[in-house]
Amino acid sequence: MDLIIATRNQGKIGEIREALDMLGVVLHTFEEFSEWPQVDEVGQTLEENAVIKAEALRNHFDVHTIADDSGLEVNFLEGRPGVLSSRYAGPEEDPERNIDLLLKELTSVPENWRSARFVCVIALALAENGLRVTKGECLGTILPERRGTGGFGYDPVFQPAGFSSSMAELSLAEKNSISHRGKALREMKKVLEGLI
Ligand code: IMP
Repeated sequence: MDLIIATRNQGKIGEIREALDMLGVVLHTFEEFSEWPQVDEVGQTLEENAVIKAEALRNHFDVHTIADDSGLEVNFLEGRPGVLSSRYAGPEEDPERNIDLLLKELTSVPENWRSARFVCVIALALAENGLRVTKGECLGTILPERRGTGGFGYDPVFQPAGFSSSMAELSLAEKNSISHRGKALREMKKVLEGLI
């Protein structure tokens, strides 16, 4: 089975590859294509955006396509940045500026009020028009400063519940074993196993 991964985010691509390894699926990314449609994330929810991305690429290439839409929800900020996670500090989608803004907003907020969760929705748009959606979440807290160099996005300031390290201090395999994306992908792996 051939499957396109509908993202240009190398962090997501690496995690999806690791999670779907051994499935016997051939994964294709944007790097193999000379043209790649620009898809605007106009949905109001992670699920809407995941479906928009998966269907747009499936319609363009006529190949099974999976898309991830994910984000960070901070309780003290009433769920922000949420669906706007990648563009929190502006349209240039700069992860460092996003973290700076988040830390600024949480200045002086004590540790027990810094709870948050990562949420991930994976959508699979089948070439013959079917659609499957899976979800995962990972609870944790926002650290007062960056720690570690792994992962991507908000990983350096997210400490998963039950861990003393940040998400960016975990190996790829460790992150996938507890992360929102890892959970959603394990569910999607079961769906794919039923289709192969
Ligand atoms: P999307 O590409 O619109 O789904 O944006 C997802 C954004 O959420 C990313 O750019 C990150 O800012 C954040 N995010 C999602 N998953 C993760 C993760 O695993 N680690 C760190 N940040 C994440």
